[in-house]
Amino acid sequence: MNKTSRSGGDMPVEEFRRVGHEAIEWVANYLEDPGKHPVLANCRPGELQSRLPSRGPRTGESMDVILHDFEESILPAVTHWNHPRFHGYFSISSSGPGILGELLTATLDVNAMLWKSCPAATELEQTTVAWMLDWLDLPAEWFGMILDSASSGVLHALVAARQRTEPQSRSAGASGPLVAYVSEHTHSSVEKAAIAVGLGQSNVRHIAVDARFRMRTDELARAIRSDLSQDLRPFFAVATVGTTSTTAVDPVEEIGSLCREYGLWLHVDGAYGGSFGIVPECRHILNGVDQADSFVVNPHKMMMVPLDCSLLYTCHPGQLRSAFALGAEYLKTDAANAVDYMDYGLVLGRRFRALKLWFVMRYFGLDGLVALLRDVLRMAAWLGEQIAADARFELVERGAMGLICFRLHRGDAATKQLMSRINGSGRFFVSHTVVGGRFTIRVAIGNIRTQQSNVEELWAFMAEAAGSCRQSRASMRH
Ligand SMILES: Cc1ncc(COP(=O)(O)O)c(C=O)c1O
Repeated sequence: MNKTSRSGGDMPVEEFRRVGHEAIEWVANYLEDPGKHPVLANCRPGELQSRLPSRGPRTGESMDVILHDFEESILPAVTHWNHPRFHGYFSISSSGPGILGELLTATLDVNAMLWKSCPAATELEQTTVAWMLDWLDLPAEWFGMILDSASSGVLHALVAARQRTEPQSRSAGASGPLVAYVSEHTHSSVEKAAIAVGLGQSNVRHIAVDARFRMRTDELARAIRSDLSQDLRPFFAVATVGTTSTTAVDPVEEIGSLCREYGLWLHVDGAYGGSFGIVPECRHILNGVDQADSFVVNPHKMMMVPLDCSLLYTCHPGQLRSAFALGAEYLKTDAANAVDYMDYGLVLGRRFRALKLWFVMRYFGLDGLVALLRDVLRMAAWLGEQIAADARFELVERGAMGLICFRLHRGDAATKQLMSRINGSGRFFVSHTVVGGRFTIRVAIGNIRTQQSNVEELWAFMAEAAGSCRQSRASMRH
């Protein structure tokens, strides 16, 4: 029976139990070998949509049919981020305990807006963010909250910083041109946040980077002084620990000193790189972060927690609260001294994200996660060494945070050709960036299922393919 006429009520528990077991079985089979799927979706834009009905069903359908269609129609259009040879963007992945945490979160479906709306969600959030501070060896007294993304995190930080600089801005709007400072390599989410809060894109300064793609503090100081001399109001700067293009680490301590000197709020973006701070031999990347006004780290990037889970910390929770708290009568409670997270941010409805984070932190423990990250670093270093030893390649980043960046000496066209051969093979997925004006391939190693043999397979393919990648005549003329 494909169509069912439902008269109300949820799926019967017996049916849920039967289909639920099947679904878990499907997930277990998938996790056993995600590498059996082509890593990249095999479809053209609009293709899936054109195959799906243009209107939703009038009458309910059976789960068997829905799951069948999931396999037949949806799966071919999926890019498999859990694939061991997924090396695009940042190679992030979900893990068993994280998936189970998501299952239970969806089951309880609580709203973590107020302590009273679900005490467990609020208190587990407080507990897990405190555990993470301890693992990262950052100030225990910082206030932390779990958001969906680092993009939301920096938006909240910007609003809190504006609240500190111009307390009247909440009611009257900002009075003068506030200026924010990022580097040429800072993630675009900062500029987007500046657009969203009405700062104006032209009031975001992109400071030049040095030869290792780190923000130049002499240029930052010069830009701040120049803006001050024109009666503008420098108020916010971002330092990144692990930039998106090349995992560069900005000089956080020096940027922090300038921020203190000129009264700017320092936000540190550790969305990707921050997680490596739990590894003792990498902890130095967080030097100076204890002086930040706010800090973001995404366990959904390198801590094997499924999307979405991003931690925002600040030592000024009062500024967040002053900016965002609005006491609607129907949300008032008698829970004195409890944290109501909705008062510290934009959204009201908040998912119980702490549960999956708690599952992952407890299942692997600090030692387990450190071991996983060390595996990542070891595999990345190995690939970096192969590339460095091959005279046809120019190594740009050797894998300090699991990311290797390189290009072919023969030039951009040859490097692009190499990338399309790698991705066209259907076996691997790598992505690219442009640094120093040159097209550069990024190989991100970080997936929990990636093994040394996968990386060796990629290197063998690359080394072979590189031999026949040439500059086109047209590009040689330029
Ligand atoms: C350094 C850095 N910051 C911020 C972001 C944005 O993260 P999110 O997707 O959580 O908004 C990214 C995304 O890759 C990133 O690499």
